[in-house]
Amino acid sequence: MKNLIQKYNIPGPRYTSYPTVPFWDKEGIAQQDWERTVKKSFDESNEAEGISLYIHLPFCESLCTFCACHKKITKRHEVEQPYIETLLKEWDLYCDLLVERPKIREIHLGGGTPTFFSSENLKKLINGIFKRADKFETFDFSYEGHPNHTSKEQLQTLFDLGSRRNSFGIQDYDPVVQKAIHRVQSFEQVKRVNDLSREIGYTSISHDLIFGLPFQTEESIRNTIKNTIALKPDRIAYYSYAHVPWIKGVGQRGFDENDLPKDNEKRHLYELGKQLFFDNGYVEVGMDHFALPTDSLHKAMESKKLHRNFMGYTAGKTELMIGLGMSSISDSWYAFAQNEKTVEAYTEKVNNGIIPIFRGHLLTDTDLIIRKHILNLMCNLETEWKIGLDTKVKAEIIERLQEIIDDGLIEVSENKITVKEEGRMFVRNVCMAFDLRLIDNKPGTRVFSMTI
Ligand SMILES: C[S@@+](CC[C@H](N)C(=O)[O-])C[C@H]1O[C@@H](n2cnc3c(N)ncnc32)[C@H](O)[C@@H]1O
Ligand code: SF4
Repeated sequence: MKNLIQKYNIPGPRYTSYPTVPFWDKEGIAQQDWERTVKKSFDESNEAEGISLYIHLPFCESLCTFCACHKKITKRHEVEQPYIETLLKEWDLYCDLLVERPKIREIHLGGGTPTFFSSENLKKLINGIFKRADKFETFDFSYEGHPNHTSKEQLQTLFDLGSRRNSFGIQDYDPVVQKAIHRVQSFEQVKRVNDLSREIGYTSISHDLIFGLPFQTEESIRNTIKNTIALKPDRIAYYSYAHVPWIKGVGQRGFDENDLPKDNEKRHLYELGKQLFFDNGYVEVGMDHFALPTDSLHKAMESKKLHRNFMGYTAGKTELMIGLGMSSISDSWYAFAQNEKTVEAYTEKVNNGIIPIFRGHLLTDTDLIIRKHILNLMCNLETEWKIGLDTKVKAEIIERLQEIIDDGLIEVSENKITVKEEGRMFVRNVCMAFDLRLIDNKPGTRVFSMTI
């Protein structure tokens, strides 16, 4: 196994989309093409399955030095109100385009730190959204909270607005690790928000942990997981630390590459975590995620309804996902588009009445086929050849997979390709064999984190 890890631990995408962002068309997408595909997707799917909204709330009070998310650090809470106003204006632009009233099946508030915002402003945001939309029969509303900055009032307000699911960033409980990543939070603080969420009636609580952080050891991970399991979250995201300091502005400073666990040590931390989750009744879902069998994510996996998008794994899929807020990515199934990455540029476009995208990608027919295969592999660990690849492309994919086949990590038959249990940790490498955009345009510089 050690040799396999060395062999397959290469820079590679996490496949939260296909094509992955660095391989979107350099020319981008024309504004009218984006709007056309959104309308097409909406007309095809609003009645039957509704739409999803991802709302990016980028502010955080303090910088965690491991963080790769799009965030803006400030303690000035005056930023809240104008930002909410801009979000609602952006929503108006989409509602004008869609004409019919959208039926919302899913809302996710991501960040940054959504609980940076006061209860009153969160209420304004969600009520503002529903002025121009209805809830779909099934409605799933979730948000990310920072344990140090989430009050009982915020938990109650979001519950009253319809949320039953939340997730908290934990990362690691070890004081040495916490100091290095500039994120000090105690078990008591996490227990407080966890217990309050249960008391209020949330039915799915998720904790985010990361392995591969500076100074982590087997012992520190055992302790972090022991604390996590004591609170019995319904889901656990056990992310591999993505070290991407070359992406400008992510702020990965304050520790050195030498402080990070090496490849094999890192993989050992993953294996250890996985075993401890299994021992405590959790089941692995896709890549990086564990859930109790009672949780909707696990049920979605069982019924092969798991989906993957820019937020990671989700239990439901809609053809149209609109991303509101700075840096948000939207998906009309036929195209992707990303909003302006700074609050200033984002606000300016919205104030000028423009849907504030700055880049995107219109999928070709081949992209759409590859997209289905990669989604199947990432979510179900198998895909069927009958999804329209031409014979030459299929033969080339199998050729690229030959080493992985010889290593006993996948099985290829007449009808399908299946990732074996031993191959699960290499699923990103399997997807890379399908990734025609990556193969045709090998990046000249490092753009991805390591696959393992
Ligand atoms: C937007 S943040 C979480 C919400 C909230 N701001 C918090 O920190 O509690 C989403 C999650 O992404 C994960 N994350 C951020 N940067 C990462 C990195 N470089 N590698 C792996 N996971 C990362 C963390 O686990 C984090 O909790
Ligand atoms: S981990 Fe969360 S709180 Fe920390 S900087 Fe990133 S988004 Fe902000």
